[in-house]
Amino acid sequence: MSVIFENYPEITGEETKKGLTFCNEQILRVLPQFTERFQKAYSEGNFYQPVENDDWTCGFWTGEIWLAYEFSGDERLKKAAEIQVDSFLNRIRNKIAVDHHDMGFLYSPSCVAAYKLTGSEKGREAALLAADQLIARYHPVGEFIQAWGAMDAPENYRLIIDCLLNLPLLYWASQETGDAKYRDIAEKHIHTAVANVIREDFSTWHTFFFDMKTGAADHGATCQGYRDGSAWARGQAWGVYGMALAYKYTGRKEYIDLFKGVTEYFLTHLPKDLVPFWDLEFTDGDDQPRDSSSASIAACGMLEMVKYLESGDAQHYRRIAYQIMKSLYDNYAVKDGAVSNGLVLHSTYSKHSPYNTCNHYGVDECNLWGDYFYMEALTRMSREWELYW
Ligand code: GLY
Repeated sequence: MSVIFENYPEITGEETKKGLTFCNEQILRVLPQFTERFQKAYSEGNFYQPVENDDWTCGFWTGEIWLAYEFSGDERLKKAAEIQVDSFLNRIRNKIAVDHHDMGFLYSPSCVAAYKLTGSEKGREAALLAADQLIARYHPVGEFIQAWGAMDAPENYRLIIDCLLNLPLLYWASQETGDAKYRDIAEKHIHTAVANVIREDFSTWHTFFFDMKTGAADHGATCQGYRDGSAWARGQAWGVYGMALAYKYTGRKEYIDLFKGVTEYFLTHLPKDLVPFWDLEFTDGDDQPRDSSSASIAACGMLEMVKYLESGDAQHYRRIAYQIMKSLYDNYAVKDGAVSNGLVLHSTYSKHSPYNTCNHYGVDECNLWGDYFYMEALTRMSREWELYW
């Protein structure tokens, strides 16, 4: 393990509680502005603006509200989250901006959470409709779920590593309905994804294309990373959490080794403060922004995986997760509502480079999933927590 971890302190129980207390207060403070409308995917000048429920990220905001409700039991949070569940039901019934694979990101932390926490029938209905929407993007020839765009175009015939987090919705749907089709598709997708997006050195491709006629693997490419052959920090972090969830749901032993490989690659490419730059190509001394959200996502993945590992390995990853969270808490978390209406600073959503074609926005800002996974990690460290995923 890299020397940077040797003497780095771990977050304490008191800091974890303080962190959650601030999140709860901050969410309550901004709730009136963000109940009928949602926080935008990313902040501007560290402040989120209100938007309609039409982006892939809106579920994280409702998820934050549910996590705060679990922490404080404040009824105002529950009421607001229920209003948002209505909005998610309306969205999926009317197919508003759901022609993509992000049904898990949208419906697990909002509607599956509502069902698990309160028995919400609307949450259940919405999440099952979302699962149907997700499996409609499955390609039986290539054996994967297509991420983006129209289904009949060869230029869209690809999967992306992020999708591993959309799959728990399918496992949940099979469990709820007794119909194995959701789980079967999830399993096929995981198999295709890990066989192709994880490189020999355990760095990862962001996206991978297949031949539309034969389903054969074609080539990897980045979308949001610095360049094709680099490892986009968040893609690698989705890989860490994705492999932990893949193991949780399949029990396949080879996924433990893949989890370890992908995680060690992530950890050995961290700068001194344990929070990655937006692409793992960069390190201390590079004039590049961080992606703090990747640190929280990876911490959640490690905290999930420790449940299934032998005690030595479990201790190793638990300690690292607590060290990463210490840095996030000390150096990145918002501590004053005048500085930001979000929870964690210095994330990067999408940064243009000479080698990628992606949009350029949400650079060195808060973003919704960064806030959500920071809270999820704190929650996981404070008590036994039933996953929304
Ligand atoms: N899933 C899209 C992203 O991580 O930016």
